Amino acid sequence: MKKVLITRSILPEVVESLSQRFEVDHNADDRPWAPEELVRRLRGASGAMATVMDRFDDAVLAQCPELKVISNIAVGYNNIDVPAATKRGIRVTNTPGVLDDTTADLTWALLMAAARRIAEGDAYVRAGEWKIAFGVQYFLGQDIHHATLGVIGMGRIGQAIARRAGGFDMRVIYHNRSRLAEEEEKRLDATWVERDRLLAESDFVVVMAPYSPATHHLIGAAEIAKMKPTAILVNTARGGVVDDAALVEALREKRIAGAGLDVFEGEPKVNPGYLGLRNVVMTPHIGSASRATRLVMCNTAAANMMAVLDGREPPNPVN
Ligand code: GLV
Repeated sequence: MKKVLITRSILPEVVESLSQRFEVDHNADDRPWAPEELVRRLRGASGAMATVMDRFDDAVLAQCPELKVISNIAVGYNNIDVPAATKRGIRVTNTPGVLDDTTADLTWALLMAAARRIAEGDAYVRAGEWKIAFGVQYFLGQDIHHATLGVIGMGRIGQAIARRAGGFDMRVIYHNRSRLAEEEEKRLDATWVERDRLLAESDFVVVMAPYSPATHHLIGAAEIAKMKPTAILVNTARGGVVDDAALVEALREKRIAGAGLDVFEGEPKVNPGYLGLRNVVMTPHIGSASRATRLVMCNTAAANMMAVLDGREPPNPVN
């Protein structure tokens, strides 16, 4: 039996089904492994199902000569040195497509929570601070309907986010390296604009670009300075695409109205500057975390891994 490694706790039905065919080492404790432990557990494994928290750099890969496939349970794969894997003949796969709607839903949840100050209001009620039933000036936020949504990164998830704006009668503008085909733009009712124009005109700026050296701090102090003082920034893509230190500063000085964040630089550590701010709402990297979607992601990742180990082309190859 071939040995496969599952680096974090995943849905039990998927472990069970893999156990019929493989000797499975499953990190059921869900305690993230340090690189040395990852290497130790990878010894003798032909396949690995991994998460975005597991770093596969060349130093790790060099110590796993039997490894044939790293199957990320994620659409992003910035945790893997893909050229190094390719050089060593290791296939890398991901789970695109199956999490677009779930991640778009969470993006909207954060957008709306930040706009209407939901987390702040919830904390206020729980703390027993709500003493007078109704106040004309209580918790004034931003309107979502009829506002302008700016999407930076118009891939599958960006498009799913844009589609949802129709229900709020919003104007949608987007910026992407490559423009969508005209009929796609028409279908989404979205207009391509230069990035600076998007930043200046949007009431909601949503970042949905994958992390790479090219997108590191794509939104930093200079970009935030171009946003409206009433605007809200939402990042459900990757930590590092937004410069957290610059955003903390801008939120503290109320240079923009708020932010909704699911991802952070150096997570699970969060820039402590965010913690005392009321104009930011945060979630712990749960964009794709619905039960149904996580099950599909696990099954997709298992199918990718099995295909490579059976000598077939995987459904979702990265390299
Ligand atoms: C999660 O962050 C993913 O890339 O799917």
